[in-house]
Amino acid sequence: MRVVVTGAAGFLGSHLTDHLLALGHAVVGIDAFTPGTPRPQRQANLARALRHPSFTMLEADLCDADLGAAVSGADAIAHMAGEAGVRGSWGDRFAVYAMNNLLATQRVLEAAVSAGVRRVAYASSSAVYGVTANGPCGEDTAPRPVSPYGVSMLAGEGLLDAYAQHGLSTAAIRYSCVYGPRQRPGMAAERFITSALTGERVPLYGSDGRSRDLVYVDDAVRATAAILLRGPDGPVNVGSGESFTLGEILEAVTAAVGAAPAVDRRPALAGEPPRERLATERMRAIARFAPATDLAAGIAAQVAFVRGEEFAELPAGNAA
Ligand SMILES: NC(=O)c1ccc[n+]([C@@H]2O[C@H](COP(=O)([O-])OP(=O)(O)OC[C@H]3O[C@@H](n4cnc5c(N)ncnc54)[C@H](O)[C@@H]3O)[C@@H](O)[C@H]2O)c1
Repeated sequence: MRVVVTGAAGFLGSHLTDHLLALGHAVVGIDAFTPGTPRPQRQANLARALRHPSFTMLEADLCDADLGAAVSGADAIAHMAGEAGVRGSWGDRFAVYAMNNLLATQRVLEAAVSAGVRRVAYASSSAVYGVTANGPCGEDTAPRPVSPYGVSMLAGEGLLDAYAQHGLSTAAIRYSCVYGPRQRPGMAAERFITSALTGERVPLYGSDGRSRDLVYVDDAVRATAAILLRGPDGPVNVGSGESFTLGEILEAVTAAVGAAPAVDRRPALAGEPPRERLATERMRAIARFAPATDLAAGIAAQVAFVRGEEFAELPAGNAA
């Protein structure tokens, strides 16, 4: 198959690109190298793909580029480009979220319909759910985002539903917190690892008991490929189905590095729910596997990456 991956230089997009190439698909990557992650890191994310004969890279902004030629002849689009992060979505910077999460998604969908692309999978977020009860949160839970970021992700899902009326098959992949090599700067695991390695102090918002569903990037990418290539329409949670407290994440980082992160405890921030755990039955049924990487092994792999060590490619036989 010929697959367009938007956000191909990013954390999720670059891993997905490598995985699709390993599965034998041809990939066209699109990325604008937006500010946030330093450009050299994003270029390094693409290094493996650029050595592959079935990969083509296009540097372009989805908000204004002519996407017709890029998506022409594609069987599917994995729309992994977007503006990530809850904290940056308040205030004037919401304009960036409106552009990169809403306008960009609308333009990708429009181009897909015009070019006759059959399938689009969109990187949404568990942030669409907002504050939920203790139990695992299923796809039928009513979305009530509590951050401008979550609102922008949910609005992107609304666009998928609108464009489905033009015959497009669409899936919204609601990722929990994905971690592992190439994770973009500013996410919790990355900040804690960098702090433990360098001694640099980092803020920790809320109590150590705050919890998140963490899923290792290889698991998330296997599930993404399966959803893109053979999944049904509609939302699908992608997570481990397990909840980890910030305290447990700090302990895993401390064990992997051999030194503790230097954290400054601060009050919880608006827009960041106290707990998160996703129901993953739908994902497991589509992907025909259960996330296999435990927290200690996943954090150890991310620490090795931050230390500059090479990490193993996904075995191609394990998905879609
Ligand atoms: N990583 C996670 O844990 C996670 C969890 C939930 C949702 N998501 C969502 O998945 C998407 C990808 O996340 P990520 O962690 O890989 O982020 P990332 O910042 O590493 O990658 C996003 C990529 O999209 C590109 N991009 C952004 N706007 C663009 C535009 N207008 N045109 C072309 N390229 C553009 C950026 O340059 C970047 O390379 C985001 O929308 C994010 O909100 C991620």
